[in-house]
Amino acid sequence: MNVNGKHYRTIWIDPKENTIVKIINQRELPHKFEIENLIGSADAEVAIRDMYVRGAGLIGATAGYGMYLASLEASIQNKEKFNSYLIQVGKRLKATRPTAVNLALAVDRQLEAISKEESLENKIIIAKETAKKIADEDADSCRRIGEHGVKLIEEISKNKDGGRVNILTHCNAGWLAFVDYGSATSSIYNAFDKKIPIHVWVDITGPWNQGAKLTAWELEKHGVPYTVIADNTGGHLMQHGLVDLVITGTDRTTIAGDVANKIGTYLKALAAKDNNIPFYVALPSSSFDWKMKDGIKEIPIEERDSEEVKYATGLTKGNKIERVLLTPKESNAVNYSFDVTPARLVTGLITERGICKANEEDILNLFPEHKK
Ligand code: MRU
Repeated sequence: MNVNGKHYRTIWIDPKENTIVKIINQRELPHKFEIENLIGSADAEVAIRDMYVRGAGLIGATAGYGMYLASLEASIQNKEKFNSYLIQVGKRLKATRPTAVNLALAVDRQLEAISKEESLENKIIIAKETAKKIADEDADSCRRIGEHGVKLIEEISKNKDGGRVNILTHCNAGWLAFVDYGSATSSIYNAFDKKIPIHVWVDITGPWNQGAKLTAWELEKHGVPYTVIADNTGGHLMQHGLVDLVITGTDRTTIAGDVANKIGTYLKALAAKDNNIPFYVALPSSSFDWKMKDGIKEIPIEERDSEEVKYATGLTKGNKIERVLLTPKESNAVNYSFDVTPARLVTGLITERGICKANEEDILNLFPEHKK
């Protein structure tokens, strides 16, 4: 996507020094656009855990590049130690954030690709190529999600007086959450570029505020009309006919169509159901967990530091980014980062292969290679 007229992906190898991986530091957005270097696998771990990068697709891509950096670190060792070092780094990367399935998928894909090569030199070459492939596939899937999802928006617009489609989204499932395009936002950008009249309701998405900080910034840069709303506003808007469609992303979707996404998504889905508003989830197939069925019982829900609930970060009048305490210092707080929306509340899934219902049969018809 473009930032001030220049095309960026969210992660790439430094073209001048191919042992360095570059990322956009999302902790500083929207107030500062800053590029950071990852020079070792430990940097990739920190970037994922502390949310310099975030979002299922980008976490997966960062883990892929993290494994490439690990292969460079391991190259001074012999072949046996090389493999065990990579396994160790893979474990550490997987432990950084448990909910997004893309992360484990990327690590396992790297381990498999690397283990097939004999020489250390080839192991490094394949690790670099695999990291690039994971990133390219992510971007390509998101681009295709947009081509399918735009049809839903177009259809609603055609059947509506005035044609303007109001879409509500939660958190950031934009290009910042992936390598490019985004999942939920890919259809939105596509609709805007096709001149379909749209407007986006952006949930602030506490406590990290991905909606207010990141989705708002992305839409602003692209010129898409949007309004930021407090997280509890969606139900009211829906009752008054001000939402035509909800599109969110997901960090892990089970084969039965249960969707784990940013905390609060479930409440949006309940309100959408009660008001007969379509609730779609956009995802590349790398966010399906082909082994899990029951999302509520099986999907691991990340619990982050409660300090993220007690503090907020923003720009002061003096133009400094600062963190302030919101609660009494002594307050207890808890910070579940995701919740699960059961398949029965999901109207459909927008994938790179098309749109399907959120149930095992329809998902597997679109992805028959995962049929047992
Ligand atoms: O904690 P984050 O910012 O990594 O979580 C991201 C989300 O949950 C988003 O809602 C998104 O829809 C899923 S990632 C594309």
